[in-house]
Amino acid sequence: MELQKEIAKRRTFAIISHPDAGKTTLTEKLLLFGGAIHTAGAVKSNKIRKTATSDFMEIEKQRGISVATSVMGFEYRGRRINILDTPGHKDFAEDTYRTLTAVDSVILVVDSMKGVEEQTERLMEVCRMRHTPVIIFINKMDREGRNPFELLDELEQKLDISTRPMTWPISQGQTFKGVYNLFNGELNLFEAVASKIGEKLTDIGGIDDPRLGQWVTQAYADKLREDVALIEGVYEPFDQGLYLDGLLAPVFFGSAVNNFGIRELLDTFIDIAPSPHEREASERMVNASEEPLTGFVFKIHANLDPNHRDRTAFFKICSGKFERNKFYHHTRLDRKVRFSNPTQFMANEKNVIDEAWPGDVIGLYDNGIFKIGDTLTEGEDLHFRGIPSFSPEIFKVLENRDPLKTKQLEKGIRQLTDEGVAQLFIQYGTKKIVGTVGELQFDVIQFRLEHEYGAHCAFTPLRFHKAFWITSDNKEQLDEFLRRKSTVIAYDKEELPVFLAETEWMLKIAREDFPEIEFHATSEFKTEGSRS
Ligand code: G4P
Repeated sequence: MELQKEIAKRRTFAIISHPDAGKTTLTEKLLLFGGAIHTAGAVKSNKIRKTATSDFMEIEKQRGISVATSVMGFEYRGRRINILDTPGHKDFAEDTYRTLTAVDSVILVVDSMKGVEEQTERLMEVCRMRHTPVIIFINKMDREGRNPFELLDELEQKLDISTRPMTWPISQGQTFKGVYNLFNGELNLFEAVASKIGEKLTDIGGIDDPRLGQWVTQAYADKLREDVALIEGVYEPFDQGLYLDGLLAPVFFGSAVNNFGIRELLDTFIDIAPSPHEREASERMVNASEEPLTGFVFKIHANLDPNHRDRTAFFKICSGKFERNKFYHHTRLDRKVRFSNPTQFMANEKNVIDEAWPGDVIGLYDNGIFKIGDTLTEGEDLHFRGIPSFSPEIFKVLENRDPLKTKQLEKGIRQLTDEGVAQLFIQYGTKKIVGTVGELQFDVIQFRLEHEYGAHCAFTPLRFHKAFWITSDNKEQLDEFLRRKSTVIAYDKEELPVFLAETEWMLKIAREDFPEIEFHATSEFKTEGSRS
């Protein structure tokens, strides 16, 4: 019973956006609403500054700070809200993709002036893969932005999802008056005040209230009535089932920096967003309400301080109750492990906890026993799916600069890639190809190999565009492909073959020449039992 109650209370989600759309600002405002922080600016300081791209140690330092707030929990209207932070810097996109495997829903922030941007599309692709329910917040309505109908069309086309406005803006930019709630007929008048957390809601009892003109001017009242009539004519009523299936995104308008439109967003989120439900393991579906504990590691954070070289594994609980000091089964290592100091994060505080529930993310002390994707259970051999590797975009050969430290280099690169800093592919048995989504990771690897393992390396760029995991039911064709393309074939850490495509064109040709081979952009095609 207690388990059911705790599950129903929980909402675990991430806020995602193209950099600068307002993710950090929105996160902070939600924490203010939830009473988890009391001053604006508390979250800001954890952000990776965009100007610091060349100074990765600075970034690591900032990541170090942000570890305590990587998960921000707070209570609101009787619910436990867990916001999983995702790095804003695009070079850490892989971190973001992995975090998205641990949430039950997302809020996507879009800049009203810029509309859908590159990173917005890529993040949505990851959400679509998992059918993650998405709520869209169109931010910066206090700036001269694009026409809201046009924005909705663009969202539908570029993000391949149906939309349903839940609130509607009354003008925008200099003349922004506020938003009208399409469901309960409330009017929220805009006031540019960054510090307040309350909002001035006026129940006008619907669009026909004659007082509307007094508040927003007659011209804007008429325009709003026109817009609402159009919306009611064009859009179907909001269907929660479609939202939960990841097919329909409810859309809100507001201004995060001015604290405007946040309450509508949060209140609706609480009502419609899913609590932890079920999750697919290779062996079977696991329901959150099952008594035995299950969960998986989706992120590992290493402490770069040479005096405290420990790591924190971020563990997402999928079912059952987690208890401190209890023995659990580490399925990959087939051994019993227990944790005396599991931590949980409330706003910017880190506390040792005695128990945690499905939907929660806890930090586990890791002296090197965890890899991304590792599963803990109470004995059952389960392997959760949905934690794939994504194709890297930059590939470089790792060269050893100090032959006396070969072993250290070998160990170092394996451990760093277990942590998810980068991916490792092996060609011709020994050649090591490191793949990442950002240049910064190469600096991080070089620095850490030197400082943590005493190994020296250099990188030689390769001109590959993407990696594709390959499978085929036609063994002959697969063997033929591997033979003919040996210069562009490498093997991942689980010894699965990967095709390194130089261009989209090369991929197209390969597909035409070998029609029975399947090319997978992520490693998540693996079938039962193939995870090691
Ligand atoms: P991110 O995490 O998605 O990268 O975006 P972030 O919240 O840092 O916001 C990016 C910039 O947009 C910030 O300005 C922020 O103040 C501003 N911003 C956020 N919401 C709104 C909004 O509703 N209206 C307007 N006009 N601006 C908004 P900055 O100059 O980069 O930083 P700061 O010096 O203001 O902190």
